[in-house]
Amino acid sequence: MVIALLGLSTFVYYCKNVKSESDYYNPQVLATHDNGGHFVGSKTCMECHADIYNTHLKTAHFNSGAIADSSNIKGSFEEGSNILDLKNVEFVMRADGEDFYQHTRIKNRSAEIPPAKFDIVIGSGVRGQSYLTWEKDNLYQLQTSYYTPTDSWVNSPGYPTYYDEPRPIRDACLKCHITFAKSVEPSPKGNHFDKSQLIYGIDCERCHGPSVEHVVYHRENPEAMEAKFTLKIEDLNRQQRLDLCAQCHSGPRSIVLKGNSFSYATGEDLDQYTKNVDRGDRVAKLDVHGNQYGLLTRSECFKQTATMDCSTCHDPHKKERGNTSYFNAKCIGCHSKDAMLCSKTTTDKHIMANNCISCHMPTTPSQAMMVQLDQDSLETSFNIRTHLIAIYDKELWRD
Ligand code: HEC
Ligand code: HEC
Ligand code: HEC
Ligand code: HEC
Ligand code: HEC
Ligand code: HEC
Ligand code: HEC
Repeated sequence: MVIALLGLSTFVYYCKNVKSESDYYNPQVLATHDNGGHFVGSKTCMECHADIYNTHLKTAHFNSGAIADSSNIKGSFEEGSNILDLKNVEFVMRADGEDFYQHTRIKNRSAEIPPAKFDIVIGSGVRGQSYLTWEKDNLYQLQTSYYTPTDSWVNSPGYPTYYDEPRPIRDACLKCHITFAKSVEPSPKGNHFDKSQLIYGIDCERCHGPSVEHVVYHRENPEAMEAKFTLKIEDLNRQQRLDLCAQCHSGPRSIVLKGNSFSYATGEDLDQYTKNVDRGDRVAKLDVHGNQYGLLTRSECFKQTATMDCSTCHDPHKKERGNTSYFNAKCIGCHSKDAMLCSKTTTDKHIMANNCISCHMPTTPSQAMMVQLDQDSLETSFNIRTHLIAIYDKELWRD
């Protein structure tokens, strides 16, 4: 009997190990890109790129689209601060264990509207968040959003101040705020998604491409020090490197020319896939919201150098916001020779704490990203750091 039991447990132990070993060399595929590449998720990168993995978890990118839970919804569910009161409707936010709901009460009407669950959080919360809800496999935006500067619930940008039907979310929010989603039949352009192939956050493989072969190769060849089956970003040309960021940082790009919003892959020519509605080339028409590419490429610093791209100032793996001395050092990296120095008088510089960007890249109100704080007030703009590096009038200087 004892021998039989021992034998059995050895057998079970053996089977388990074989299984986990084969998982190791055949990592679970989370989704498949149009180009056939398989995504395996950043957890698989951790064992070999621990430093990058750990700093990446703290970035706004990684936290920009997530399954809603108590750790990432910034708004309050406490009695008293859980209400958004609009003209003919009141929304009350309630928690039920680990689930969170928006309850809708239309004033002077007894119509019952079922509570809508907070399923997905969009926005890391630097400025605010919006929330999405599933109805079966269809995705909708909640009318309630959250605005960080006032720490309160607000009407979602673009919604009227009265009750409106939930807005279907096509891939327009997802394409910039998460790594991958797949629209499915019957309406490939609709708000119907394959829930089993959603990859949340802007993860490693959104920038580096689906990486199953790379992971398997290096797991099978732990002694190999030369990277295989992954794109070498440093070998890409300037436009290819810019396109990698521009897919989400050059305006809405709402016209899809080829495939769908997720078809472009790093290294390809972005303009073959998507483009902006043509509003002319005037800088004044480029909104600061999300068009860092359009603004930067019109700056003298960019035009008069051959190599400047987003990585000149940003390390995409790190949270850098607010690190003034780090950014000033980037400017001084080029502007340290006589002809390139700032000729502004020191008194004024003292006012802005000698911070280059508060005068040359001031935060600027966005015309595209506005929010109405309560039913009686005018819309307030989100302030975004302009990437048109230039000489501005004193009135526009701002941290
Ligand atoms: C089993 C180990 C292993 C795993 C797992 C792994 N890598 Fe790597 N990776 C390497 C090695 C080794 C190199 C080459 C040395 C280096 O650059 O660190 C490398 C290099 C890279 C490079 C740089 C390529 C270059 O030369 O510019 C990228 C990008 C990369 N890996 C991305 C990923 C991503 C994304 C994941 C997870 C999906 C991942 N790696 C998982 C071992 C691994
Ligand atoms: C998949 C779309 C996507 C790609 C690709 C992308 N970004 Fe972003 N980026 C975003 C979104 C969305 C945000 C806002 C995140 C938030 O706060 O929710 C953002 C935020 C940022 C921020 C502000 C971070 C902060 O701390 O608030 C920087 C800087 C940035 N991106 C730089 C880059 C650079 C550089 C690249 C290219 C290497 C790049 N991004 C590629 C979508 C993208
Ligand atoms: C073309 C890419 C793009 C699309 C499409 C897009 N966003 Fe964004 N979003 C950004 C970027 C980039 C930022 C960071 C601020 C900036 O640079 O303007 C941002 C910021 C935000 C923020 C503030 C995040 C924070 O943490 O402060 C919210 C909330 C947000 N977006 C919600 C949405 C919703 C909801 C949709 C769909 C209706 C959407 N976005 C569509 C690129 C995009
Ligand atoms: C927003 C886009 C973006 C994301 C997300 C991203 N990377 Fe990168 N990564 C880049 C860019 C751009 C470079 C090239 C940087 C340069 O040229 O200075 C790079 C370089 C690298 C390199 C080689 C150089 C180095 O710094 O060692 C490795 C390895 C790497 N990334 C791994 C990862 C891993 C692992 C993750 C996720 C944990 C990740 N990256 C997430 C854009 C990204
Ligand atoms: C890669 C090198 C490089 C970096 C980094 C750089 N610049 Fe420049 N910048 C230049 C060059 C080159 C010019 C054009 C000089 C000329 O016209 O003589 C320039 C021009 C300028 C001008 C004059 C603009 C105009 O319209 O006349 C200002 C202001 C400026 N830079 C500020 C900055 C600030 C602030 C930073 C940091 C956020 C920065 N630069 C980072 C290279 C750079
Ligand atoms: C000359 C340096 C420089 C270059 C080049 C540069 N940035 Fe920035 N970027 C900055 C500085 C400085 C900030 C402000 C950081 C802060 O607020 O702490 C910033 C902020 C941002 C933000 C956050 C904006 C906000 O107000 O929330 C985004 C997004 C961003 N950069 C994207 C990009 C992209 C995409 C590129 C390439 C097209 C790029 N940057 C190139 C210096 C640069
Ligand atoms: C208090 C605001 C302020 C600060 C801080 C500031 N600048 Fe300037 N800068 C100016 C103004 C204004 C001009 C236009 C020159 C003038 O009219 O005297 C200028 C001009 C420039 C120019 C163009 C060359 C010239 O002098 O005409 C460059 C390059 C420049 N600044 C770089 C920088 C860098 C790099 C930093 C950070 C180390 C910086 N500036 C900090 C306000 C500022």
